[in-house]
Amino acid sequence: MTVGIDLIHFSTSDYFLGLDTYAKEKSVDLDKFHIGIGQEKMSIAPPDEDIITLAAKAADPILAQINKDEITAVLFATESGIDQSKSAGAFLHGLLQLPNRCRTVEFKHACYAGTAALQMATKMVTANPKEKILVIAADIAKYDIDSSGEATQGCGAVAMLITENPRILSIEPGSGYYTEDVNDFWRPNHRETALVDGKYSTKVYLSSLKHAWDNFVEETGRNFYDIDAFCYHIPFSRMTEKAHKTLIKKVGAKIDDATFKLQTEAGQVYNRIVGNSYSASLYIGFCSFLDNANASLEGKRFGFFSYGSGCVAEFFTGIIQPGYQDLLMADSHRQQIESRQELNYQQYLAFYHSGDTTKENVNYPATNHGKYRLKGIEHHIRQYEKKD
Ligand code: CAA
Repeated sequence: MTVGIDLIHFSTSDYFLGLDTYAKEKSVDLDKFHIGIGQEKMSIAPPDEDIITLAAKAADPILAQINKDEITAVLFATESGIDQSKSAGAFLHGLLQLPNRCRTVEFKHACYAGTAALQMATKMVTANPKEKILVIAADIAKYDIDSSGEATQGCGAVAMLITENPRILSIEPGSGYYTEDVNDFWRPNHRETALVDGKYSTKVYLSSLKHAWDNFVEETGRNFYDIDAFCYHIPFSRMTEKAHKTLIKKVGAKIDDATFKLQTEAGQVYNRIVGNSYSASLYIGFCSFLDNANASLEGKRFGFFSYGSGCVAEFFTGIIQPGYQDLLMADSHRQQIESRQELNYQQYLAFYHSGDTTKENVNYPATNHGKYRLKGIEHHIRQYEKKD
C-alpha cells in the first residue's frame, strides 16, 4: 500500500503589493528584490481574510470532489494562530461543516509545521487505511514596517487530502530530521509580527539542510542522483538557489545549469508572486512545480526540504503518480493569482494596520471577495460568513 497526497490545492488573498511600488516608496533599487531575493509581488490579506478563510478557500475544491463525511481528521499547521487555546482546525471544521466524527488539532513549529502535519497524517493512514485526512498549512507572513523581512511578506494556504493509494504523490518512508534551539525568527505571544535575525536565519536554514540531508542519507541509503526534482521551503525564491547550490556542493555533485533549472525552477513560479506563506510555502512551491513543469513528471522522485526557524528541518521524498496531471487544479491557482487587485502603498498600510483582533467587538467591511470571510468579532468570538 502507498500513502500520500491524493489531492492538493492552494489559495491566496485577493490583493497584492508589487515590489516595484515598494521599492519606489523605500527608494531601493528594484533589482534588490527582483534579482537579489527573487520576489516580484506579495499577496496581502485584507482584515476580513485570515488563516481560516484562506484555509477554507484552499480546501473547498477538494471537498467538492469527495464525500466530505469521510474526512477522519483535520490537521491544521500554522504560525499565525488565531487563538491560544482553540485550534484553527476547529474553526475550519465548523465553517466547512465537516463530520463530527473527526479529530482536529493545530500543529506549530514556524514554517515546518505543515510537514509535521503531513508526516503525521501519512503515519495515521498507514496505521489505518480507512482514514482520509485533511492537512492544512495556512499562514499570513507579517513583519514590522521597514524591517528587513517586510519585502518577503505574503500569504496563502494549502489543503492536501492524505489517503491510501494517493493519485498525486506517494510519500516514501525514511526522512532526515534536525532540531536545534536557535533564535533566528520568532514571534512572542504578544506580537502580531515576527522578529527575525534575517542573515542569521539564512545561515541556519542552510546548515540545517546539510544536517537533515546527512540524516536522510543514513536513514534511506539514497543519494543526490536518486532524486529528480527538489522543492525547498521558499521564504523568498532566491533561497531555493542558495539551498540547491549548498546541497550540490555538500554532496560534490556535478550538474550543468540546464539540469539545475530543471530540478528547481518550476517550483518558484507562484512563490515569486505570492510571497512567503510560512508553513504553506513549501507546498505552494510543490503546486508550482506540478502546474508549471513543461514535461510529464510521472514516476519522478521529488525531494522536499522543510525548514522552520527556531529550528526544525526535515528532508523527505515522494514519487509522482501516473495520471497525476488529471487531478491538478492549475486553473484555479492561476485564476486566483491573476485576479488579485493591486494595492498602492497607502492602501497596503491601511490593510496592514486595520486587523486589530484584540477588541471585544469588531466589524470588518467586506473587502475579501471569496466565498468565506471573517465578518467580525462578537464578545471575543470570531464570526465567519459563507457566501453561497
Ligand atoms: N541588484 C541585485 N542584487 C542585489 C541588489 C541589486 N541592486 N541589492 C542587493 N542585492 C542582493 C544582495 O547582494 C543579496 O544577495 P546575497 O544574498 O546573494 O548576498 C540580496 O540581494 C539581499 O540583499 P541584502 O542581504 O542586502 O538584503 P537584506 O539584508 O535587506 O534582506 C534578508 C535579506 C535578510 C533575507 C531579508 O529578506 C529577511 O530578513 N527576510 C526574512 C527572513 C527570512 O526569510 N529568512 C530566510 C531563512 S528563515 C526561513 O526560511 C523561515 C521563514 O520562512 C522566515
